[in-house]
Amino acid sequence: MAKKVFITSKLPSKIDRYLRSKGFTVSVYTGKEPLSKNELIKKASKADGIITLLSNKVDREVLDELSNCKVIANYAVGYNNIDIQYAKKKGIVVTNTPGVLSDATAELTIALILACTRRLIEAEKFMREGKFKGWMPDLFLGTELKGKTVGIVGAGEIGTEVARRIKAFKTKIIYFNRSKNSIIENELKGKKVSLDFLMKNADIITVHLPLTADTYHIIDREKLKLMKKSAIIVNVARGEVIDEKYLIELLKKKRIKAAGFDVYENEPDINPELTKLKNVVLLPHIGSATTETREEMAMLAARNVEAVLKGKKPITPVN
Ligand code: DGY
Repeated sequence: MAKKVFITSKLPSKIDRYLRSKGFTVSVYTGKEPLSKNELIKKASKADGIITLLSNKVDREVLDELSNCKVIANYAVGYNNIDIQYAKKKGIVVTNTPGVLSDATAELTIALILACTRRLIEAEKFMREGKFKGWMPDLFLGTELKGKTVGIVGAGEIGTEVARRIKAFKTKIIYFNRSKNSIIENELKGKKVSLDFLMKNADIITVHLPLTADTYHIIDREKLKLMKKSAIIVNVARGEVIDEKYLIELLKKKRIKAAGFDVYENEPDINPELTKLKNVVLLPHIGSATTETREEMAMLAARNVEAVLKGKKPITPVN
């Protein structure tokens, strides 16, 4: 009998076609509301493979109900939404989508940095409101990147791609990472430093750490207090890596210059204080949101499912 694959959301169309062409029966959740936990259990309980979104919490309760499941392919590089240890215990392979989204996410990071340093959102709003009355020497003065120190927190593939791009703005790079990054060290002349040193010395801080038990609030109030008054921080990783409440306090008091958010601590809810602040740029978790990348993520997820259900090694396993 054909193996069943359940996809928790409509994804780029190639993926259903691809999986069907490989002999799988595919069902897709197409509801407008996000899939609830109960519905996830109901729809996925008999599936042999599942493709999940980062918004689907796959905890013990869910895993215990998956009677046939051999593989969960998360449509994201991050997999903090899945209890991967427990999945392993149950013999379920979990995979993610590394690599294919690094360029898109790095591009968005640069956009977010520039939106903060050059006050793009405030300036655009000013135009739409008809407030532009002519060129002025001090209109929306921003900060130049040239000569500044950029601190990369988490120098994996995305952090490395950010480093390559930001270097072109004539910046100096320091980074915090468990291991040395030879591309940043050798090609970009960056230096590995402690997180304290980075927080204290960087003019621009960009966060690219995965969310784990070790990285939850790794940028806590003590670390945030180390930032320069002129510094900006952007986060395109996971909201929970930073103590968001304290960051908001600092932004309110103008103790730091600005912050760019693509991710939030209680996603999709957003702290209402954030929307009142002028010195923030707020994006709806779109780091990897390009047509090209989302197609590639879908294909990688599909190929992971196919591999496992055909008894082969997964391409990008995480457990
Ligand atoms: C991920 O992949 O983890 C991003 O947050 C969404 O692309």
